[in-house]
Amino acid sequence: MADFLELASSRYSCRNFSGAKVEREKLVKCIEAARLAPSGCNAQPWKFVVVDNPEIALKVAETTQQLGVNEYLAKASAFIVVLEEHAVLMPKIAKMIDSQYFAKGDLGGAALSICLEAESLGLATCMAGLYDRPKLCELLDLPKDQRFFLVIAVGYAAKEKEPRPKLRKSLDEICRFV
Ligand SMILES: Cc1cc2nc3c(=O)[nH]c(=O)nc-3n(C[C@H](O)[C@H](O)[C@H](O)COP(=O)(O)O)c2cc1C
Repeated sequence: MADFLELASSRYSCRNFSGAKVEREKLVKCIEAARLAPSGCNAQPWKFVVVDNPEIALKVAETTQQLGVNEYLAKASAFIVVLEEHAVLMPKIAKMIDSQYFAKGDLGGAALSICLEAESLGLATCMAGLYDRPKLCELLDLPKDQRFFLVIAVGYAAKEKEPRPKLRKSLDEICRFV
């Protein structure tokens, strides 16, 4: 079995996609990884729209470029749009907290599962947190009040991975044992 830390450190946000098409079976495996993710009360407050039609993928990329950023996403051949759905919680818990209280964390876990599964399949990913929501709704035929969580670009990296140091806070800064 692959070492998990190796997988976690080899995943990075790809900004150099080749444009090569991603096999649909691999995209299905990425969604399967998300489907298996844990969620508060097992509410599974997610849905996914997988875009692998080249014309639509290009338009999804454009929705992430509104601030003049993310131009490199135009070469990602697929996108997984992560949607936030209503979470049905256990009645006792629902009395105490808002129904969507756990949802963002649940969705974060599912999104990372997608990226790690993609990494294990030799794919590259880049999450995009800012996108033109009304345009995405129109493009993907979603209701105007649809809640979104994240857009994940998926593709193949253009060349052999260049080692990029992980810029992260140190263990001491983020963790203490008591
Ligand atoms: C919620 C979220 C939104 C992000 N949005 C973008 C984005 O729009 N464009 C981009 O190039 N990277 C985006 N990233 C990637 C982060 O910049 C990246 O994860 C971080 O710098 C760490 O680098 P690494 O993923 O290569 O380890 C996003 C990441 C997250 C989690």
